Amino acid sequence: MAYVTVEATRGLGTELGPELGTDSSGEFCRTVLEGLSQSRKILAARFFYDDAGSALFEQITTLPEYYPTRIETALLTRHAEEIAALAGPGRPLVEFGAGSATKTPLLLRATGAKRYIPVDISGDFLEEAMVPLRALLPHLKIEPIAGDFTQPLALPVLGEACSGFFPGSTIGNFDHRGAVDLLRAFRRMLGDDATLVIGVDTRKDRATLEAAYDDAAGVTAAFNRNILVRINRELGGTIPIEDFDHRAVWNEVLGRVEMHLVARRSLTFRVAGRSFAMQAGETIHTENSHKYTPEEVRLLARAAGWEPLGFWTDDAAMFGVHVWTATGAAMQP
Ligand code: TRP
Repeated sequence: MAYVTVEATRGLGTELGPELGTDSSGEFCRTVLEGLSQSRKILAARFFYDDAGSALFEQITTLPEYYPTRIETALLTRHAEEIAALAGPGRPLVEFGAGSATKTPLLLRATGAKRYIPVDISGDFLEEAMVPLRALLPHLKIEPIAGDFTQPLALPVLGEACSGFFPGSTIGNFDHRGAVDLLRAFRRMLGDDATLVIGVDTRKDRATLEAAYDDAAGVTAAFNRNILVRINRELGGTIPIEDFDHRAVWNEVLGRVEMHLVARRSLTFRVAGRSFAMQAGETIHTENSHKYTPEEVRLLARAAGWEPLGFWTDDAAMFGVHVWTATGAAMQP
């Protein structure tokens, strides 16, 4: 399968983070060392998704505790026709973070899209995920882009009204500022006539939220620890992975589930020739999953150059699927 070349358009979207070179291993190394050197250690969650991480995440989506995938899929199934009518029939569909193709056929079928442009950071995983989709929708033209959607991408749809699809509450993995920046970047990438179908997880009780990110089978723990596996493998790390516990905690004030890796004992390790020490109980903060009320989602949309058109939720208001349309001219950074 041939991938469209990703052009990180320099000088655009610099609010999304520092400009990074094309050498991804160099970027991985720099970012890890920087994060581990802080007084509160952090690791950038986008590095979860190597091939092993993407496969573990697929497993997470089938866990009984992890309701978002189940409920979002149910909403997309139940309301496919209404969602498609608002999103715009026949338009090319651009999916950001196309990890798997389970939800997408629902939307593709309902809109009757002829072109599908999945964007995912893991090229191999993307390729695998497209196999069932090709079988399901043989007439669909699939134009995959292996790339980081937080960087400005050259999409092959310029000049044509298209729809974006951003499911899985991935928007929740950005802080509020980062979420607005990203949605603005989508607005710029997709163009003035775009619509966006976006899935957003809602605020709810602590027990439900914490269980969703700390399942009994330990898959989420393995997913979280996989970033340490990657560091050891790719950066010559000596991190004692078994000495880290997975912790998921609902931060009510900030409206987010926080994922941490907690050192069970005081320990030392090396990464890329540098030494690090951690106290017992000290954590590495790996990920956040922000939750939004439907009202907060509408504020987010408007702050980023989108106008809400429609919103669907389940009876228990566990999850929301929203359709937005681009407003005005694309905002400049
Ligand atoms: N977008 C998903 C979410 O926030 C990603 C996710 C699910 C995740 N489980 C996780 C990220 C565990 C880190 C750790 O729901």
